[in-house]
Amino acid sequence: MHKAPRGTFDILPQEHAYWKYVEEKAASLCQLYGYQPLSTPIFEDAQIFTNTVAGGTDIVDKEMYIFEDKSGQELALRAEGTAPVCRAYLEHGLFNLPQPVKLYYIGPAFRYERPQSGRYRQHHQFGFEALGEADPALDAEVIEMARHFFCSLGLSQFIIQLNSIGCKLCRPGYLEVLRQHYSGYTDRLCPDCKVRLVKNPLRLLDCKKTPCQEIAKTAPKIANYLCHECHLHFQSVQKYLGVMGIPFQLNPRLVRGLDYYTRTVFEVEPRENGGQTALGGGGRYDNLIEELGGKPTPAVGFAAGLERIILNLKKQKLDIPALPRPDVFIAYLEEEAKTEAMKLASELRKAGIAVIMATGDKSLRGQMRQADSLDIAYALILGEQEVSKRNVMLRDMRSGEQKTIPSVEIARFLKQPKI
Ligand code: HAM
Repeated sequence: MHKAPRGTFDILPQEHAYWKYVEEKAASLCQLYGYQPLSTPIFEDAQIFTNTVAGGTDIVDKEMYIFEDKSGQELALRAEGTAPVCRAYLEHGLFNLPQPVKLYYIGPAFRYERPQSGRYRQHHQFGFEALGEADPALDAEVIEMARHFFCSLGLSQFIIQLNSIGCKLCRPGYLEVLRQHYSGYTDRLCPDCKVRLVKNPLRLLDCKKTPCQEIAKTAPKIANYLCHECHLHFQSVQKYLGVMGIPFQLNPRLVRGLDYYTRTVFEVEPRENGGQTALGGGGRYDNLIEELGGKPTPAVGFAAGLERIILNLKKQKLDIPALPRPDVFIAYLEEEAKTEAMKLASELRKAGIAVIMATGDKSLRGQMRQADSLDIAYALILGEQEVSKRNVMLRDMRSGEQKTIPSVEIARFLKQPKI
């Protein structure tokens, strides 16, 4: 028997209530903050990710789904949403619009990770990006928007972690100091961190292995090495968050899993997971658009994983509105009544009434059992008598009451508000 590939899963109908709930909250949040939808393809030129997100991160080095198409072009399944948004911003000349351009997306992303709860090979991200503005007020607004999103979903048990990782000018100096610190402990580092020490020292701070975390605890803090501009920027972000009443925790060891970030980085973590599984993360990426071939363009954004959000909604046992279902089921006896039933179903749907029509050769009793299992409010039953008199038998499935109604009046009756 075939199964969905490892690290992927089907979203069954009963699960879709959660997905719809989250997607609708995301769309109304974006409307509130003036973000417009953008959809990008599920695959891109591999270079969109490999040349920008930069080697040395697990996402690019180990987790990308890269393949050649039949023409030999190297493509990659979308590993994250930000680089494709920047590519689209450049391709469609969105830099000519008044800046910042504010865009959001909801869609799948693919990473070859070791699957576990909340970590999949296909996951879905809701993300928003503000392109073309360096103002720290926008960083604070993006963080506030992320918080607003989780609160609007009914998730309140989370912490916002905040850090600044500086810019092209001040980070190299910090990385040197960091390298020196770690060089004293090379024999204690895990194999991955030994590579990080050479290729991407900032990621040393993010290692989850206990001996490496111990070394990180005494590592120099980047805040002490920021240049004047980065320092001012970071202070302003914190000031704006303060006036908006957004609680946050400064975390000098917070670095992100992607390499394009500059200055502000932040993550949203559920309170009770001990900060292991981020619900979302984001930050500023002032060099990415230039790396993709555009003019230097500052930008900031955020993305959250829908699967993790839904896991948390379930954990908190939040009441999610059920998906709307048809209220009406049409049942019939014999072929002639079936023909009339088909006509009636079609007319009712044209009138905007959702209908499930019985099909196949089930007995009337079988059809009613089906209506019951679908939790239908009303069954309309057509037999020989009803057809000849142009009537319909209406059965209230909850009370079991039945009455005969002329066919022409049925739509009006069903549309009446019920007590
Ligand atoms: P990211 O932190 O790599 O950032 O992913 C964003 C969110 O996607 C994570 O916080 C997590 O909730 C979810 N996520 C990531 N990987 C998985 C996985 N394997 N399984 C389930 N959920 C996952 C980005 O991708 C950046 N593009 C965010 C951003 C937007 N930065 C600026 N703008």
